Amino acid sequence: MMSSSYHNPVMLQECIEGLNIQPSGKYVDVTFGGGGHSKAIFNELKEGQLFAFDQDKDAEQNAWEAENFEFINENFAHLKRFLMLHNGVPVNGILADLGVSSFQIDEPIKGFSYRFDAPLDMRMSKNLRYTAADIINNYTEKKLLDLFTYYGEIRNSKTLASHIVQTRLGRRIETTTDLVNVVKPVIKGNPPRYLSQLFQSLRIEVNKEIEALQDLLVQALDVLDVGGRLVVMSYHSLEDRLVKNFMKYGTFGREPIKDEKGQFTLPFKLITKKPVMASEAEVERNPRARSARLRIAEKV
Ligand SMILES: C[S@@+](CC[C@H](N)C(=O)[O-])C[C@H]1O[C@@H](n2cnc3c(N)ncnc32)[C@H](O)[C@@H]1O
Repeated sequence: MMSSSYHNPVMLQECIEGLNIQPSGKYVDVTFGGGGHSKAIFNELKEGQLFAFDQDKDAEQNAWEAENFEFINENFAHLKRFLMLHNGVPVNGILADLGVSSFQIDEPIKGFSYRFDAPLDMRMSKNLRYTAADIINNYTEKKLLDLFTYYGEIRNSKTLASHIVQTRLGRRIETTTDLVNVVKPVIKGNPPRYLSQLFQSLRIEVNKEIEALQDLLVQALDVLDVGGRLVVMSYHSLEDRLVKNFMKYGTFGREPIKDEKGQFTLPFKLITKKPVMASEAEVERNPRARSARLRIAEKV
């Protein structure tokens, strides 16, 4: 059964309005989590169907039994394949609320938070190959530098990468507390913020979040019916840029895709020209909403 403490859904009303739900349509929530958004979509449906993806098996505890509801414990990078398997294509709307749930962050054993002592794991699914410990202990200095810079947006990432490589000589860094103690001497600025950025960068790499988002967007365009809505909430500037470009051009570059005749074509009509942000009242109630950026597009 759904639990309200699992995750507090961000911009719930805005997402539901953005999906422009038809009661007999097919919808996909690719990031089910606590099921808050899914429940609200489901409540709008009559003969319609809802498919909910989450790669974390723990999210299944929030699923419910209904003929027109299917929980799919898979990575959304395989959206098309699993939707086809469930006769779900084409769909009228797709919702993605990226990143991790509050439950995942607050579950010490998953190792997402620097606030709890736990193994450096951070895998959302046990099907993933490498843990955060594997990355910290085995990546080259250059690869660490890149992920701290691009995924963590850490200003002294060069110093950080070099310090980690020096420290791990002769020993492994295995736990969250171990990592926090190792990086303490090089922390710049506000320590909680710095550590959040460091942990975020590892989480994005462990779960291949950027690659999965790219796969998702390409397949979303494929499985959406004409007039179907794509609603994406991201919490990181890199992700938001990918979503923005894809909704604008149908590619990740800055040029529209070409049709069979070589003509430029725009696959989406933008419903939001600028990202929608949570209201101050919502941010006060739910600080996680502060960094959320919501973008909505309609397939043409
Ligand atoms: C921010 S939470 C979603 C919360 C949800 N909207 C709610 O109302 O409770 C993100 C969820 O997406 C899942 N997730 C993240 N990346 C995924 C991926 N590539 N494939 C499938 N699930 C993913 C996480 O396991 C997590 O449960």
